[in-house]
Amino acid sequence: MTPHVLVFLDPSQPDGRIEDASRPTLFATDLGVSRGDGVFETLLVLDGHVRKLPAHLSRLASSGRMMRLDLPEHEAWERAIVTALAEYQRTVGVLDEVVVRLVATRGVEGTHTPTCWVTAFPPAPSAKRQREHGIDVLLLDRGYDSDLADRAPWLLLGAKTLSYAVNMAALRFANDRGADDVIFTSSDGKVLEGPTSTVLVAHAETDDGGRVTSKRLVTPQLDSGILPGTSQGALFAAAEASGWELGYGPLEPDDLFNADAVWLISSVRLLTPVNHIDGKPIGADPALVKALTDELAGLFDRIA
Ligand SMILES: Cc1ncc(COP(=O)(O)O)c(C=O)c1O
Repeated sequence: MTPHVLVFLDPSQPDGRIEDASRPTLFATDLGVSRGDGVFETLLVLDGHVRKLPAHLSRLASSGRMMRLDLPEHEAWERAIVTALAEYQRTVGVLDEVVVRLVATRGVEGTHTPTCWVTAFPPAPSAKRQREHGIDVLLLDRGYDSDLADRAPWLLLGAKTLSYAVNMAALRFANDRGADDVIFTSSDGKVLEGPTSTVLVAHAETDDGGRVTSKRLVTPQLDSGILPGTSQGALFAAAEASGWELGYGPLEPDDLFNADAVWLISSVRLLTPVNHIDGKPIGADPALVKALTDELAGLFDRIA
């Protein structure tokens, strides 16, 4: 069985309370369980270092505000993460690559006290495989327009809520049709995001000798009802510092088909090249795709 470490945030134990993840520990009346009413974050730990921790904690706080959840201070999460990683090292032996998940639910019905915990576990082997070989993706309609987030704040677009059943159903739908992943589109024809990732698109200009003279990295508009990715944010800053031009959509499916390269990026899977979308090959020049992928992956690797 995959090793899981579990630490609850507990006001009476400031460093967190370690529990046995193989035993039942949640109440059946917890609103996170019965309604998916809560928020979460998934982080990657490499060689003992938690990557992009401030960005994840800040997005957790923002998701909590959108849901009017009164979450613990950042410090309480940080302490529980330290405890979880120490326990992981004690039980598994290494901290080379660990996934850490932070979860906060609205709590047991009637208590108005969020239930909060941290788990630590190894990444799925598929993440590495997909990163190395690339993925095939289907475009799937999410069924609402790209302006909806402001008009309908109750839909919690842009919050990382526990209600991921639809995202997981989209992945199953794609898997059943032989694809690895999904890019959602809006009803007004815009490219949105993957069920667990951000879309990135590159355009490069080359001179007669095939040398790249300019590079542009584009992601869908952040206000189009998508989750602002911590990986996209960090990579954009690094790419800009190394001479890339940046763009924030709007993107349409043709922009993907005409791109020099397309990736899905997230904290755990990292930068993953898209080989096909709806069966059509992406990126006319495989050598250019590889060069752009290697460059951006190198920049992303160096992000703390
Ligand atoms: C819907 C969605 N978009 C984007 C992302 C990528 O976010 P991050 O780069 O912060 O992992 C995720 C991560 O799980 C996600 O669930």
